Amino acid sequence: MSNIEQTLSIIKPDAVERNLENEIKTIFKNNGFKILKEKKLKLEKTDAEQFYKVHETKPFYSDLCGYLSSGPIIVMILEKENAIKLNRDLMGATDPAKADDGTIRKLFGKSIDKNSVHGSDSPENAKIEIDFFFNN
Ligand code: CMP
Repeated sequence: MSNIEQTLSIIKPDAVERNLENEIKTIFKNNGFKILKEKKLKLEKTDAEQFYKVHETKPFYSDLCGYLSSGPIIVMILEKENAIKLNRDLMGATDPAKADDGTIRKLFGKSIDKNSVHGSDSPENAKIEIDFFFNN
């Protein structure tokens, strides 16, 4: 049965800063993802805190929110069959040092914080994250 999904993808400040936007979008397109909507913006730290609220009890929460709001980002809605899992596969492990060859984080990630891309981890969070950036 078909399972077309939408997921939220973010090209993070480290990748935007290195002008990797087009290269990363090409990887998504070559892997069959449609970019339904996209925009470039810079978050305030309070916005990042809301976006990453699921991580608020983690020791890295403040640094994470400071980082995501440190420079421009590109947010995109990606669509494809099983987009949520397939995007996470394509991104690779959170820590670029542990990511498989050919994944976006292996190719471009600098560290666990500067790991170049974010992708929703579940259908519930995909909806929340898409609404956060596009439905307000
Ligand atoms: P992301 O997929 O955007 O979701 C949460 C982010 O927290 C994650 O990518 C990492 O960049 C960041 N992070 C920082 N430290 C850690 C850690 N120890 N474990 C998991 N994620 C971390």
